[in-house]
Amino acid sequence: MNDILPGEVETWQFLERSARKVFGAYGFAEIRVPVVEKTELFCRSIGETTDIVEKEMYTFNDKSANSLTLRPEGTAPVMRSYIEHKMYAQDPVARLYYMGPMFRYERPQKGRYRQFHQIGAEIIGVEDPRVDAQVLAMLIHYFEEVGIGDVELQVNSLGCAECRPGFRQTLVEFLQERLDSLCEDCRRRYQTNPLRVLDCKATGCKEATAQAPSVLDHLCSGCDDHFSQVQTYLRLLNTPFTINPRMVRGLDYYTKTTFEMVTTRLGSQNAVAAGGRYDGLIADLGGPSLPGIGFAMGLERLVLMKGDDHEPASRADVFLAAMGEMASQKAFVLMSALQRHGLHAEMDFSGKSLKAQMRRAGKLGARFVVIVGEEELARNVAQLKDMDNGNQAEVVFDRLEEELRARVLGA
Ligand code: HAM
Repeated sequence: MNDILPGEVETWQFLERSARKVFGAYGFAEIRVPVVEKTELFCRSIGETTDIVEKEMYTFNDKSANSLTLRPEGTAPVMRSYIEHKMYAQDPVARLYYMGPMFRYERPQKGRYRQFHQIGAEIIGVEDPRVDAQVLAMLIHYFEEVGIGDVELQVNSLGCAECRPGFRQTLVEFLQERLDSLCEDCRRRYQTNPLRVLDCKATGCKEATAQAPSVLDHLCSGCDDHFSQVQTYLRLLNTPFTINPRMVRGLDYYTKTTFEMVTTRLGSQNAVAAGGRYDGLIADLGGPSLPGIGFAMGLERLVLMKGDDHEPASRADVFLAAMGEMASQKAFVLMSALQRHGLHAEMDFSGKSLKAQMRRAGKLGARFVVIVGEEELARNVAQLKDMDNGNQAEVVFDRLEEELRARVLGA
């Protein structure tokens, strides 16, 4: 779990601000849900036999012996909220986004943490393949907006309740003959969650499944048609993508379209964003039978990709350098007035020399420095120095506030 310090947080704010801007253009509204939910919510949605539920949840009993879990992801809590507040009664179509911390007890490494942050977006209530294409186009739009390149959009279809069981059976039969080559985890998964074997990073498993049957050859006509329409619309929107029939995703609620934005720049933690359709999830959680699709991006991974190319910390507008008690008092009042007008104004409170105060102004990148000494004070003036061009002029003290507001804000 990481602290996000000043100097780093500017990049986070930029990424969050950009999400609000881009998602707003597509009609999304923000939703904020608690970080703790009943454990059952995640077991039912993500799936009992997934790594997340089996090994990674921060689960505890509260004082009333209710089993609670720190949310490992955002889709299930947002669907819980959508159902609980009967949002469908007003309008079955909802476009919701969220940002915040998620918790998974994983083995930490670069790009993988136990508290991490996601920005996610979900569209509920539309089955049309154009919505899949729109969500993916929005994701690409976001990456362009924030200037993160080196990412590839990979898409797949996982079929539906009608066609996936058939594929699962075919895959189990294929794996049965190769069990000895699979890793320990996959020998267990082969029984509980065989599709996950296709996604295993172990060399033995990769080799053993190189010729595995493809889910795309086992889609029913409805899923097949949906997937080809998604591709048609992606091409119409000039959204580049590749098809990866081995992508299975680590959560069980997916149906039909699934996708990941992958990069080669983050080592083995190569997914910067991921998501898909979940047409059965809302009904499974006790809500109406409505489809959904969405994604979540890993903020830590976006920050790593943004690298040093981050937003500069904001410069101070004004630094007030005062010498002597009276001058310091007047500067203090002026600083407060400037701050109330929204200017970033600072001064020193520790009686430093003028030289040290000027150094501090430089460090803050102050655009203007006001210098008030005893001698200036006696004449009710101050020196106003423009740090960008070095010009310095004497200004009547009482006019300083107006002068600085005009120069900084143009007001
Ligand atoms: P997910 O693939 O589990 O999907 O996570 C989405 C993204 O969160 C990953 O691609 C990655 O960037 C980031 N992430 C996941 N785990 C960690 C970690 N331990 N440390 C750092 N980053 C991590 C979901 O969570 C789904 N709820 C996405 C979704 C939304 N599907 C439909 N709607």
